[in-house]
Amino acid sequence: MHNAAIAALGLDAVYVAFRVAPTALPTMLEACAAAGMGGNLTVPHKQAGADRVPHLTPLARALGAVNTFWTDAGALHGDNTDVAGIGEALDALGAEPPWLLCGTGGSARATVAAALRRGAALLIRSRDPGRAAAFAAWTVEAAAALGLAPVEVASDEGQAARTVVNATPQGLAGGDPPPLPAARWRGAHAALDLTYRPGGTAWTRACREAGLRASDGGAVLVAQGAHAFERFFPGTPAPRDVMTAAVARFLAP
Ligand SMILES: NC(=O)c1ccc[n+]([C@@H]2O[C@H](COP(=O)([O-])OP(=O)(O)OC[C@H]3O[C@@H](n4cnc5c(N)ncnc54)[C@H](OP(=O)(O)O)[C@@H]3O)[C@@H](O)[C@H]2O)c1
Repeated sequence: MHNAAIAALGLDAVYVAFRVAPTALPTMLEACAAAGMGGNLTVPHKQAGADRVPHLTPLARALGAVNTFWTDAGALHGDNTDVAGIGEALDALGAEPPWLLCGTGGSARATVAAALRRGAALLIRSRDPGRAAAFAAWTVEAAAALGLAPVEVASDEGQAARTVVNATPQGLAGGDPPPLPAARWRGAHAALDLTYRPGGTAWTRACREAGLRASDGGAVLVAQGAHAFERFFPGTPAPRDVMTAAVARFLAP
C-alpha cells in the first residue's frame, strides 16, 4: 500500500517490514531516529512505543498507543492513526449507537477515541468481566485526557446494540470461531471487523448474509495508512485510490 503510493507519486522512499523482538524495540526506534526514518508500529509494539517515542500527539498520549512515527529534527514523533481509520470505516457504515465493542486491547482503545469524538454510547465485551468494567472506567479517563465529554458506557450484559465492532484477533485465522455469538450481533444494523484476510473474514460474510452492513479491516487498513502516509510526507495528500487498489489486490480471494 505504501510502496504503491510512493511509486505513484515518484517519491524517493521505500516501505519495509522489520520483525522486531520486544526487547529490541528501543534500539530499533533509536536507529530510526538516527536515520531520520518514519514508520508504523503494530502488534505487539503499539503500547511500548508510547513509552519510547518522546514526542506524542495528545491523542497518542491519551490512548497510550502509537501506530505511526516519524522523525523531525532528529527526534521521533508519534501519533495514533487507527482512530481516524476506525472512525472513517464506521462513518462509511453509517454506524448508529450504541456500539458493542469486543476486546479491551489497543484497537479497542482507538475505537473508544472514535466513539468519544462522535458521542456514541458503548457496550464493552471482554473474555473477563473485570477487564470489561476496568476498561469502561478507563473511557472516562480517556475522555478527560482528550478534552471530550464522556459517553454512556456499560459492560455488555446482552443490551441491544446497533453496531458491533470486533477489536479482537478472532478472525485472523481461517478456522477462527466468530468473535461473539450470533445472538449478540443479529439485531444490529452494522458490523466492523478489524481483522482482515484474503477473500474477507467469515464473520463479515455472515453479517452481510444476515442483512447487516459490514466491513472488514481492509477499509481501516487503508484509512489509517493514508493518515500515516501524510505524517511521513507532510503536505503530500495520500493517493487513497492507489492504496485502496493495492490492498484490494493483496486481499483478493
Ligand atoms: N485493520 C486495521 O488496520 C487494524 C488496525 C488495528 C488493529 N487491527 C486488528 O485488530 C485486532 C486486535 O488488535 P489489537 O492491537 O487491539 O490487539 P490487542 O491489543 O492484543 O487486543 C486484542 C483484545 O482482544 C481480546 N481477545 C478476545 N479473544 C482473544 C484471543 N483469542 N486472543 C487474544 N485476545 C483476544 C482481548 O480482550 P479481552 O482479554 O478483554 O477479551 C484483547 O485485549 C488484531 O487482529 C489486529 O490485527 C487491525
